[in-house]
Amino acid sequence: MPIPLHVTRGPMDLVDTLLDCHARIREYAGLARKIAAARGIEPAQIASAAADVQRYFRHGLPRHVEDEEQSVVPRLRGRSPECDAALATMEREHHEHEPLLARLLALMDQLMAAPQRHAELADAVGAAADAITTAFEHHLVAEEQQILPLLRTQLSSAEQAAILAELRARRTPLPPGAR
Ligand SMILES: [Fe+2]
Ligand SMILES: [Fe+2]
Repeated sequence: MPIPLHVTRGPMDLVDTLLDCHARIREYAGLARKIAAARGIEPAQIASAAADVQRYFRHGLPRHVEDEEQSVVPRLRGRSPECDAALATMEREHHEHEPLLARLLALMDQLMAAPQRHAELADAVGAAADAITTAFEHHLVAEEQQILPLLRTQLSSAEQAAILAELRARRTPLPPGAR
């Protein structure tokens, strides 16, 4: 019997796709913390890492929030009081994240423009990255425990496929040179 040379897995369904977004949120929050902790790194590397973090939180994360608020909430709302409470908490927390994200993005913009200021900005970057990490870890775990399982149990496969199509339609590539 031939030995498979590649690890294969089936296409990602809706919940897999949303979990993949959560993995990216955790990854880029982690990268922001690494930037804060970095020492003896070339300014060009600092600027490049800061660019990656700002690109994700400025252009990627808002698509995920739209997925949840525009595609998930309307389909799950009204299924149960517990579900409605979890959806309301999720949307409230999305708003609470805004000032934390604005603070992190401002710092990433400063590092991109002047990476030689890293030592001076590192403490502020660390505080902003820690605040994002704490807020999101709580938020993501609540969604993973209370909301994502309902997509599989409460929605038909046609409804799940329709949401997945909406997620994909939101993700158009950034134009060349976009920050
Ligand atoms: Fe969320
Ligand atoms: Fe989420």
